[in-house]
Amino acid sequence: MRAKDPTAARARGEGWLHFRKWLRHGRSVAALTPSGRALAVASCGRIDRERPQVIVELGAGTGAVTRAAAARMHPDGRLIAIEQDPDFARMLGASVPRAEVVCGSAEDFAGILDARGITAVDVVLNGLPTPSLPAAVRDRIYRDLSSLPGRPWVSQITVMPWVFQRFYRGFFEEVSFEPAWANLPPGGVYHCRGLRVAAA
Ligand SMILES: C[S@@+](CC[C@H](N)C(=O)[O-])C[C@H]1O[C@@H](n2cnc3c(N)ncnc32)[C@H](O)[C@@H]1O
Repeated sequence: MRAKDPTAARARGEGWLHFRKWLRHGRSVAALTPSGRALAVASCGRIDRERPQVIVELGAGTGAVTRAAAARMHPDGRLIAIEQDPDFARMLGASVPRAEVVCGSAEDFAGILDARGITAVDVVLNGLPTPSLPAAVRDRIYRDLSSLPGRPWVSQITVMPWVFQRFYRGFFEEVSFEPAWANLPPGGVYHCRGLRVAAA
C-alpha cells in the first residue's frame, strides 16, 4: 500500500474547509479555494529575506500565503497573521508555527499591533477581498494603514488580473502588478505603496 502524503492530505483538508466556508459566508471568504502556491509566492515578493522585518497578513485564511511568508522571511522577523474565522485561525496556528496567529478582524489591526508593542510594519500581505469590502470597513483599514510610519508595502492578491489596477491606483501612489499565471485560476498581486491619506 502507498504511504499517505501528509502535504497532499493537509491541502485537501484546507481546500475542503475553505469551500464549505465560501458556501456559508460567500463574499467575506471570496474565493472557493485557498490561494495556489504560485499566487502565494508572488504575494511575498516584497519580503526581504536579508532583513528581520515585521510582516502583517490580513485575511490569512487556511495559511497558503502565511506558509510562503514564513518560508521566505528572515529568521528573526515577525509574522502576524490576522484571520476572523475561528476555524481558519485554528488550522493556521497548527500548520504555521512561525506565525503569531490572531483570531480577529482586520479592522482592529492597529489595536492588535499595539497590544504586541509593534510600532512599524514593513510588509502587509492583504488577502482580504478589498474591492468588495463595505466602504466603511475598507476606509477604516486604509486609514489605520496610512498612519503606519515609513512606506510599507501592501501586497494585495487577486484572481482578476489587472481588473482592479485603477482601483488601487486611486488609493496608492505606487502600484505594480505581478502576474501569477501558474495559479488556478490565474491571478496576481498588486504591490502597492504610499497610501494617499486623503483618499482613504
Ligand atoms: C480570499 S480569502 C484569502 C485567504 C488566504 N489569504 C489565501 O490566500 O488563501 C479571504 C480571507 O479573508 C478573511 N476575512 C474577510 N474579512 C475579514 C476581516 N474583516 N478580518 C479578518 N479576516 C477577514 C476571510 O475569512 C478569508 O479567510
